[in-house]
Amino acid sequence: MTSKSTQDSTMAPIVARGIRKHFPGNVRPTLDGVDLTVEAGRVCALLGGNGAGKTTMIRILTTLTRPDEGRARVAGHDVLREATRVRASIGLVGQYAALDELLSARENLELFGRLSGLTRRGARDRADQLLETSGLADVGRRPVGAFSGGMRRRLDLATSLITTPGVLFIDEPTTGLDPGARHDLWDSVRALVDAGTTVLLTTQYLEEADALADDVVILREGAVIAQGTPEDLKRLVGEPQMVLREPTLEDVYFHLHATESGAPAA
Ligand SMILES: Nc1ncnc2c1ncn2[C@@H]1O[C@H](COP(=O)(O)OP(=O)(O)OP(=O)(O)O)[C@@H](O)[C@H]1O
Ligand SMILES: [Mg+2]
Repeated sequence: MTSKSTQDSTMAPIVARGIRKHFPGNVRPTLDGVDLTVEAGRVCALLGGNGAGKTTMIRILTTLTRPDEGRARVAGHDVLREATRVRASIGLVGQYAALDELLSARENLELFGRLSGLTRRGARDRADQLLETSGLADVGRRPVGAFSGGMRRRLDLATSLITTPGVLFIDEPTTGLDPGARHDLWDSVRALVDAGTTVLLTTQYLEEADALADDVVILREGAVIAQGTPEDLKRLVGEPQMVLREPTLEDVYFHLHATESGAPAA
């Protein structure tokens, strides 16, 4: 941290360099030297198919898994040496969230509020606010076990917003949701970003990265194979008039393999 430049990317809310993780018993490393920078107030989509290493990268950045090699700073704190500070500065919406199925949405939110250190009254007020802003006010007293996938995902997101985090990680926000629920969730994420939160999300859908992200990083077999804005990546796949349907992640893979030059400008 010797540079005084305000553009210094080491000051960005998420900075990772040379992240490597090889789980025992696996033939190849899950992450093989990944660099990632997300500047303040931006949404970055970590895009990749099953097993690409997306969840592992999120787990490392949120202090849940130790990398074998590499360094990462989140919200200005080192993920290894200052894990407690990192945890206090972030929100995490996991791929599989831990909600109590028997409790109502409101009770789940109150419980998370109490665990975050709010008073009983504070937790109740925050739960009501979050139900309102998540569009769940009408179903807040129903047990979570009876929720649809879309309602459930919005509640997952709400639980990570009890104390407004500066940096939010969302692992596959809309996998398994129908288009209506997917668009509602996108709106919730956009509202957060408007309020100043920096977001790193993972997705398997190019369409989702296109709809939400300022920057896209494509991960394959633990390595970054392309990165840029959604426009950069769509240009890579082909001219719009040549594409008869929306390009998919497979189109990007195919194109990267078909061209000798490989990744676009990093
Ligand atoms: N704790 C672990 N122990 C052993 N192997 C693991 C562990 N966690 C992840 N892996 C392996 O690392 C690879 C990448 O897993 P990861 O969950 O990061 O991928 P992903 O991109 O999130 O995939 P998905 O889209 O299916 O969620 C997989 O092959 C997985 O088996
Ligand atoms: Mg995953």
